[in-house]
Amino acid sequence: MEKYHSYINGNWIENDDKLEVLNKYTQEVYATVSKANESLVDEAITEAGKAFKEKALTPYERYEVLKRASEIMLENKEELALLITTEAGKPLKQSRTEIERSSKTFEIAAEEAKRINGEGVPVEATPGSENRMAFTIKVPVGVVGAISPFNFPLNLVSHKVAPALAAGNAVVLKPASKTPLSSLKLAMILEEAGLPKGLFHVVVGAGSTVGQTMMEDKRIALYTFTGSAAIGQKLKEETGIKKLILELGNNSPVIVDKEADIQQAAETLASQSFAFSGQVCISVQRLYVHEDIAKAFKEKFIKAIENLNVGNPHDADTDVGPMIAEEEAKRAEEWINEALSNGASLLHGGARKGALLQPTVLENVKKDMKVVCEEIFAPVVSLISYSDLEDCIDEINESDYGLQGGIFTQNIDTAFYAAKNVRVGGFMINDGSQYRVDLMPYGGVKDSGNGKEGPKYSINEMTEERLIVMNLK
Ligand code: SIN
Repeated sequence: MEKYHSYINGNWIENDDKLEVLNKYTQEVYATVSKANESLVDEAITEAGKAFKEKALTPYERYEVLKRASEIMLENKEELALLITTEAGKPLKQSRTEIERSSKTFEIAAEEAKRINGEGVPVEATPGSENRMAFTIKVPVGVVGAISPFNFPLNLVSHKVAPALAAGNAVVLKPASKTPLSSLKLAMILEEAGLPKGLFHVVVGAGSTVGQTMMEDKRIALYTFTGSAAIGQKLKEETGIKKLILELGNNSPVIVDKEADIQQAAETLASQSFAFSGQVCISVQRLYVHEDIAKAFKEKFIKAIENLNVGNPHDADTDVGPMIAEEEAKRAEEWINEALSNGASLLHGGARKGALLQPTVLENVKKDMKVVCEEIFAPVVSLISYSDLEDCIDEINESDYGLQGGIFTQNIDTAFYAAKNVRVGGFMINDGSQYRVDLMPYGGVKDSGNGKEGPKYSINEMTEERLIVMNLK
């Protein structure tokens, strides 16, 4: 059994209160982690505040540390990928991609650390201010509180930690309780990369203790959170006018237009609906297919799904593994059954064994069914036939969410009409909603949150712009 501990001020803090981390495929206990209590969280925030003042790195030093961390990740790619597969149940090939992406996220943040700048402000253009000169600088906010989800145990952590450090902040991180081990490995990597002690802390434990203590602490200047809209809302209520970056849910829509390349759409969408069992905020969930091509698309889509390998995430060719927990798979199964008993039909899948839910396709769904209007976060997609694009987009925009969406079409006018009118933070043409590379701005509108990730954009959120005016007389 592996033993891990919370990481505070450069020390591994062992105690008797343990969190058990399961191997998500076998459901056996794989590791234990010593949890942080309220006073340890308080200590982490105190030490982060001190380190922010006393151990500040220059932008070039931040670049060097983050670049080295990026390299160490790649040097340990296989070990880190296996850890993600074990603690999250993510298929190995997707875990390997996650390590490559995390390394990139750190590399991009390292580069961005050298480009944090303000701008000249022409105050002298105002009559009476002729002898003044002004410019802005970007200063770090201080202590950043990061709360990360289970679905990308390293890369979504990297999207919080790397830009926060690049901007010159100190970070207190609460990783997801189901997948804390990758964050603890990140602490080791950052230490090896030369990050001074105190600039990064990992406090492991439940949201009700660790998360709550972080939320109530006035010394945290900015929170960056990925998770459910309900917790995002609570964070907003509890932290008032504090700066927040919220990456919340989505029920991603993708349109397959009558002028689409149907084969390309079917293959891309089969993969993007079921990667990591649909537990990705931008997984394809609502698939709007033009009625003229619905039959042809359906055949190709189901064929592409049948080519996916479902099973043990440690097998090199597995595409779809278990969900994060059996209760989550049961919840998704209940939503499927609720839809079926209200008139939906099952086109593919539906069966569940433990935490493993088969890739599932529904049709004849109604827009108020949970499988359509809520975020299912499971390998379940609904096919919805449409005849008029404007009506289809109106229906898409009825959603409370708006993170990413997409359209498949060979008609450029249709593509740009959709891009202009679907209300989301990011829109893909001839790709699914799940497209993301780590330098791009990533974030939603409506209940999908606010603020952007992507190192350049997060750094902007994680710094304060200060105006400096000099009276030359
Ligand atoms: C998410 O689930 O929000 C992250 C998706 C990704 O980084 O690919």
